Amino acid sequence: MLGGFQMRLALVDEGKVLVYIPDPREALAPHGLEPAWLPVFYNPKMEFNRDLAVLALQVYLDRLSPRKPIFVVEPLAATGVRALRYALEVDGVLGVYASDISRVAYELIESNVALNNAWDRVRIFNVDANTLLYNLKTANTPVLAVDIDPYGSPAPFMEAALNTLGDGGLLMVTATDTAVLEGSKRSKAFRRYGVQLTKTPCSREIAVRTLLGYIARVAAAHDRWVKPLISIYIDYYVRIVAQVRRSAREAERMLWDKIGYASYYPELKYTTIRQDTVESFRGAQEVKIGPLWIGETLDREFVELSLEELEGKFGYLRTKPKLGKLLLSLREESLVQGELYQRLDLIASALRKQTPPRHRMVEELRARGFKATTTHYHPVAIRTDASPRELFELI
Ligand SMILES: C[S@@+](CC[C@H](N)C(=O)[O-])C[C@H]1O[C@@H](n2cnc3c(N)ncnc32)[C@H](O)[C@@H]1O
Repeated sequence: MLGGFQMRLALVDEGKVLVYIPDPREALAPHGLEPAWLPVFYNPKMEFNRDLAVLALQVYLDRLSPRKPIFVVEPLAATGVRALRYALEVDGVLGVYASDISRVAYELIESNVALNNAWDRVRIFNVDANTLLYNLKTANTPVLAVDIDPYGSPAPFMEAALNTLGDGGLLMVTATDTAVLEGSKRSKAFRRYGVQLTKTPCSREIAVRTLLGYIARVAAAHDRWVKPLISIYIDYYVRIVAQVRRSAREAERMLWDKIGYASYYPELKYTTIRQDTVESFRGAQEVKIGPLWIGETLDREFVELSLEELEGKFGYLRTKPKLGKLLLSLREESLVQGELYQRLDLIASALRKQTPPRHRMVEELRARGFKATTTHYHPVAIRTDASPRELFELI
């Protein structure tokens, strides 16, 4: 029994916290747990997302934060597990503001804060996410990290999050509306993110760049600019970690330099954000996609520092092997950021050739003096700065 609500609870541990969650047996679907059916949302598969979040916040605090200690806001907190983890696992967090619009979630967060004896670090609210963010801004609370982790699209919360974040603050965003971001629901993508999308072979990177482009355009409207540190598409969601700075001039420069369009050539299953590549496809059927973020999506130094922290302070994380694998892949990918990934299987099929093994392709491209890497986005894709002609020839 929780406040006025009847709910069977289970106790789970994650990172260094213990939390009550609604009994998972109440939400069993044929494929397993369906977190959205629980009276309060808790997805055990998102432990990975939360592990990466505490790791990234620690790296940010140690290396990039303009001030320490800091306040963090988690305005869509559900059980409060993420807020508690920020409060109890990251050095330099002075306090976390956590809120959920659902009364029952609020009461569960209350029990979990008590369970972890964290009343000195976590303040909780039962208000709309945007209300909390704007109230903190009105009260001049120096917020240096905001984590927007909704069920679906983060777009409705972006303006308030960017407005509340102090100069140099860290923005972390999850989006699970991947069908929209990847271009399968075109009119929704246009409505929600203001982009024209088509599903392409590199739709996962397009999803990341659509969200980043949206964040950047909202930021620019408020004289802010963003620097992506980690951007991924994994499992079934997009996750962005970015630093947000204030400067009208830099915001304008960001719009000119980092926002643009991708060109998709359906016959050859090739998608590009490089202007010189577009020239080489003159005459071919072309589909324009955007506006999107066409700048760098990863910061190599931040990824390397995250790897170091993972081996050090965060060695206890249960998802360490998966996190390590991802970060190593991102470190490699960060070397080739000027072009989208390419699906070798689809291009080979368009050329009526067999799919070459991707490690062999990477080696051959490097031997020819090009940059080339594998990618976390897809197991049969590579990233390279070789031109399409060179890539096709090699295939
Ligand atoms: C995906 S869950 C959050 C999961 C949580 N961040 C975690 O790591 O476990 C989304 C939560 O947002 C809450 N929510 C939905 N709309 C909201 C709004 N406008 N303001 C505040 N909370 C909201 C829902 O009640 C739900 O608990």
